[in-house]
Amino acid sequence: MEVKGNKLCLGKFSAKALADKFGTPIYVYEVSIIRRKYSELVKSINYPKLDIHYACKANTNLLVLKLLKSFGSKIETVSKGEIILALKAGFRAKDIIYTSTSVSKEEMTFVVKNKIRINLDSLSQIELYGKLNKGAGVGLRINQGIGAGHHDHVITGGEMSKFGISLEHLPRARRLAKKYNLKIVSLHQHIGSNILDVKILLKAFDKLLETALNFPDLVSLDFGGGLGVPYLSTEKELDLKLFGREITKRMNDFCKKYGRELTMVLEPGRFLVAQSGVLITTVTEIKKNPKRTFVGVDSGFNHLIRPAMYGSYHQIVNASQITGRKIKVDVVGNICESGDVFGRDRIISNPRIGDILIIQDTGAYGYVMASRYNSRSLPEEVLIDGSKIIS
Ligand code: LLP
Repeated sequence: MEVKGNKLCLGKFSAKALADKFGTPIYVYEVSIIRRKYSELVKSINYPKLDIHYACKANTNLLVLKLLKSFGSKIETVSKGEIILALKAGFRAKDIIYTSTSVSKEEMTFVVKNKIRINLDSLSQIELYGKLNKGAGVGLRINQGIGAGHHDHVITGGEMSKFGISLEHLPRARRLAKKYNLKIVSLHQHIGSNILDVKILLKAFDKLLETALNFPDLVSLDFGGGLGVPYLSTEKELDLKLFGREITKRMNDFCKKYGRELTMVLEPGRFLVAQSGVLITTVTEIKKNPKRTFVGVDSGFNHLIRPAMYGSYHQIVNASQITGRKIKVDVVGNICESGDVFGRDRIISNPRIGDILIIQDTGAYGYVMASRYNSRSLPEEVLIDGSKIIS
């Protein structure tokens, strides 16, 4: 998204033109941004055996999946539904990784039948999978006690997290794997989401390499996702160059010690798609109370739950008046709950009814987390590629 004159533009289109054409609320994703993010990531890692498995939970729009596939990405999934979408988008079974939790026998059977690669998250998953697919090669998701992320809800390492097999349980995991003749060909970890500090990512990286030395049959090491993006203008971008350089060096050193070159797997979700997306809304109401001004729009936490669920910040701009007089407002939605707030104390150009408000950086964990709460419809999604609209 960029400002051209007094207009906010996505590709060749002004936000206003898109709102007029499709109505609001609507999610719009810019292809050029996803392309740029993918290329930045791949270029920063100079390791020959690198596999990017896009964590599609961030955005499962079929066109987004196809786009990432066309760049060379593979895919990471967490459910039968995501596997079905991945296959529909054209990913081959061997390029799909499934890593999930509280998995039913029915879902596990589906994974086995479709020959999807798996990271087993618990001792009971090893039992369940082992009975269904004796002799297979599997990955183990490990919880090494290191966690990080923008909110407690998204920290997936450490004792409070339900995810992964703890280091203490690895001897039992191996015994169980042996019982079913499963070969442990990969180790996986994912410590949390929206991490901007390279240090913590490297600490977890090093720990997995250390653990991996005890597993002789590995083909790959999967370091999960978690690469963050700045949502606030005061936040710094992840130092991708440093991250890429350091993991490449560490992986090379490890492989020398290990005696074989392993594939390095990364599972970025948010990093690739968050900044490509905006939620376009229309102002439907303005309530100037004695102490606060509430600006109501035609969307709500049913469409974008991140502010209500994690207190997440998304920048909001008035696309109808980029340069107007600024005032302080609370931007709220149309859901019948007081927590339906997109942003408090936002300084934006004096909004009027009918103005177009853009909620930024909503390409990840936006539409995928939307619901029909209050019996409201889901928004449309469109992709913009320069002067083309793809929907
Ligand atoms: N791999 C695994 C095993 C994961 O559990 C996740 C995310 C990812 C990769 C991708 O993480 P990312 O690169 O996007 O940080 N709804 C929350 C985020 C939940 C992330 C869950 N797992 C939010 O809106 O912030």
